[in-house]
Amino acid sequence: MNFDQRLQNVSVLGAAGKMGSGIALLLAAEMAKAKNLPENEGTKYRLNLIDVNDDALDGLWVYLKAQLTKIGEKTTIILRNLYKDREDLVENFDIIPQFVDDAFSVIRVNTDLNMAKDSKVVFEAVIENKDLKVDLLKKLDNLCAKDTIYLTNTSSIPIHILNEEANLDGRIIGFHFYNPPVVQRLAELISCEKTIPELKEFSSELAKRLRKVIVSANDIAGFIGNGHFLRDGLFAISEAKKLAKDFSLPGGIYIMDKISRDLLVRPMGIFQLIDYVGVDVYQCISDTVDSYIEGENLKEELLKRMVDKKVLGGQRADGSQKDGFLKYEKGRPAGVYDIDKGEYKIFDPDGWTGELDKKIGDYPQGFYPWRKLLMDPKKNEKLSEFFKNLKAKDTLGAKLALAYLRNSKQIGQRLVDSKVANSADDVNKVLLNGFYHLYGPINNYI
Ligand SMILES: NC(=O)c1ccc[n+]([C@@H]2O[C@H](COP(=O)([O-])OP(=O)(O)OC[C@H]3O[C@@H](n4cnc5c(N)ncnc54)[C@H](O)[C@@H]3O)[C@@H](O)[C@H]2O)c1
Repeated sequence: MNFDQRLQNVSVLGAAGKMGSGIALLLAAEMAKAKNLPENEGTKYRLNLIDVNDDALDGLWVYLKAQLTKIGEKTTIILRNLYKDREDLVENFDIIPQFVDDAFSVIRVNTDLNMAKDSKVVFEAVIENKDLKVDLLKKLDNLCAKDTIYLTNTSSIPIHILNEEANLDGRIIGFHFYNPPVVQRLAELISCEKTIPELKEFSSELAKRLRKVIVSANDIAGFIGNGHFLRDGLFAISEAKKLAKDFSLPGGIYIMDKISRDLLVRPMGIFQLIDYVGVDVYQCISDTVDSYIEGENLKEELLKRMVDKKVLGGQRADGSQKDGFLKYEKGRPAGVYDIDKGEYKIFDPDGWTGELDKKIGDYPQGFYPWRKLLMDPKKNEKLSEFFKNLKAKDTLGAKLALAYLRNSKQIGQRLVDSKVANSADDVNKVLLNGFYHLYGPINNYI
């Protein structure tokens, strides 16, 4: 079966979730385009969106409509070409709604797994729970044809485990989109030893059509992206705990978040990133990876305490950030959770955070926030100058930032040495494209 035949009937499982809804959107747009190509005239397309959460499926319609309109607005040139033979579609306000209608015409939404039975491709994006994933994959394998292929979005579970436990004979691959799938440029592809060649080809072709940067990772729990993120975050937590002796735990968290954002010139601080992903999701990744990797302790009791207290971060349905390690006001950090008191300690530039800023010390010359450098053609020279000045500084902030950079580099190097990544370049590509860092962890700045 070729790529285009497979694309005719696809199911997404967990379609109302953060990742599933994004995957559904990308596929709906692709299928709407395929459907309108002259060579596909008369071909029936089906995108089955399945989730156990019926209410969330209602919200999915609203999300898809708004997002498909946005995609239409951004791709008018492509759509004009696609509909060039349609004399009734002249203006953008004719073309874009037609594209949205075409996408909706392929979509079926339901809570019933049976809807997937004719699918030639199934995307699995349910919660990160191995037993649930295996159970659903087994059920699907009984339901669907024996040549149906499975793409799992798991963040951390080795693909060979899913393959073996669900008896899929290699008809499974890790197709790891980043959050949100529509925006993030990266697709990390993870084959297990048994993954069939056709599925590898299908996944590469799909990633290309979705204009994703592809990085192949090896089948070791956490893969490259979460392999780095997990250890990077655990390092920050351990540093925050050390700082707690002098500055209290909220103080330590504030300092590590601030230096990991500003002095490492990243889009957000490490605790903000953990909140963005969700403290519970992050804990789940750490527990999962810990259970598959020997000789390394990747469990963290602070995460468990946060989850037990239901301080979870993550996003609301409207995309706004929920409070986690940090409290957010208008999307910006405004306080730090004090786990012992069970309340947030609000930032106070004239009080405790102002004092901590003084301890962190002034920033080296040549400092620019991430956003300023993002599109700057001279960013590499500027970063080089900035890190040179950082190394010459003797402040608490500079020392912590340099230790953090060294640790991040070591994590990256270990991912190569332990054969999770095929090269340093692949590690850097994942951090540049999946996390929007301006430079890879394996660099000459440090
Ligand atoms: N959130 C991220 O940043 C991120 C990034 C990359 C990969 N992932 C991975 O993607 C997967 C989904 O994560 P998410 O963040 O979208 O989770 P989520 O909780 O937002 O969505 C999961 C969805 O699965 C649904 N679900 C649960 N049980 C189901 C069942 N039996 N049948 C059908 N649907 C079911 C839930 O109702 C929910 O809508 C996980 O494996 C996760 O590790 C997440």
